[in-house]
Amino acid sequence: MRIAMIGTGYVGLVSGVCFSDFGHEVVCIDKNADKIDRLNRGEVPIYEPGLDELMARNTAAGRLSFTTDLAEAMKGAEAVFIAVGTPARRGDGHADLTYVYSAAEELAPLIADYTVVVVKSTVPVGTNAEVGRRIRAVAPEADFDVASNPEFLREGAAIEDFMRPDRVVVGVTNGRAREVMSDVYRPLFLRETPMVWTSLESAEMIKYAANAFLATKITFINEIADLCEKAGADVQQVAKGIGLDGRIGGKFLHAGPGYGGSCFPKDTSALARIGVELASPMRIVETVITVNDARKRRMVEKIREALDDQLAGKRIAVLGVTFKPNTDDMRDAPALTIVPALIGAGAEVRVVDPQGRKEGEALLPGVSWMNDPYAAAEAADAVVIITEWNEFRALDLERLRGIMRGDRLVDLRNIYVPESAREAGFVYTSVGRV
Ligand code: UGA
Repeated sequence: MRIAMIGTGYVGLVSGVCFSDFGHEVVCIDKNADKIDRLNRGEVPIYEPGLDELMARNTAAGRLSFTTDLAEAMKGAEAVFIAVGTPARRGDGHADLTYVYSAAEELAPLIADYTVVVVKSTVPVGTNAEVGRRIRAVAPEADFDVASNPEFLREGAAIEDFMRPDRVVVGVTNGRAREVMSDVYRPLFLRETPMVWTSLESAEMIKYAANAFLATKITFINEIADLCEKAGADVQQVAKGIGLDGRIGGKFLHAGPGYGGSCFPKDTSALARIGVELASPMRIVETVITVNDARKRRMVEKIREALDDQLAGKRIAVLGVTFKPNTDDMRDAPALTIVPALIGAGAEVRVVDPQGRKEGEALLPGVSWMNDPYAAAEAADAVVIITEWNEFRALDLERLRGIMRGDRLVDLRNIYVPESAREAGFVYTSVGRV
């Protein structure tokens, strides 16, 4: 089967590469010629474990290629995916659909034989139908259907999520489109992956509802963590105790500095906007957004309290600044709130992050970038863990303590056992545990 993938951002690139690994012939298209050149040279523009190897293998097998030429890419393609960005619009939080609609209008005149135009970008309810209308307006005779196929990849685990998804959601309007989409995902049938066939509108809603629910779950446990600190309970035990209830489930119950990333902040704010527009307010989601924003700022106070209310003149080693491990993505990372506030209060900040420096350098002016946690901790008053990279999970705490001039360890991801940290000589603070 031949597939065209418009957009080589995170979702487009991972999906394109994985579809080629299914055995399909995939051509990825991007307007950015420089990016396409780099992809053709085998360079992977993002950090995603396993992606480079999979890309190299499928390019070598002749199933995967990259071009700026949409017309060429669409020749013989039975499915054309739109996987372009839908950033939050400045000011009002609405999803910006400019790129989606212009992709639709550009591909419209190139439709030759029956083609399914699949929207993979996260888009508000009604967008897929509008994509159909816009294509029809440009190319009234074109033989096509629109399908909505939202993506549930997590950065850092994207290949695994694509190859072994919990489910695949596809919105279609008729059996012909469903047949093409079944062919696209046929390799997953062998793994008995549940396929959820819905209307276009339901598929669009599923994506927002899923992300908003997960963001709510995280925010809920974060508030419980605060309460645990006051009440003398341990949030990890609480999370385990509630998570074993099958109706609740144990995943996404790790308390921390607040969610970040390219999806939850953008999608919760878009869903809240949809609610306002359709006069069906999303009050829970609105609260989640407010609570999560406040939480990132609150983490600065936590660090200040750990340092006896004094940040000025303190040297702080920050371990991890990306919004989560195994990514180089800094979008809406809690560190972007925390680190500048520490610097603003007069602290000296030294940062270590296995992948964050490339993006982080411009976003975090005034920090010193170090290559290893022990070097960063030299003569530091405090070590603050913001992102739970594996590299930070098994530090020699006694050695770390010995290198520092102070003894404060602020673990915003609860990766250490409080007793062990205290035994190593630390005054240890974490989230939702005393
Ligand atoms: C999220 C969803 O998990 C994916 O299913 C979805 O496809 C994706 O958004 C998207 O819409 O494209 P992602 O943003 O890559 O994926 O990362 P997550 O693993 O969901 O983490 C998001 C944030 O929540 C991170 O800042 C993470 O540290 C935080 N988090 C996550 C917690 O604080 N606690 C948890 O228990 C889980």
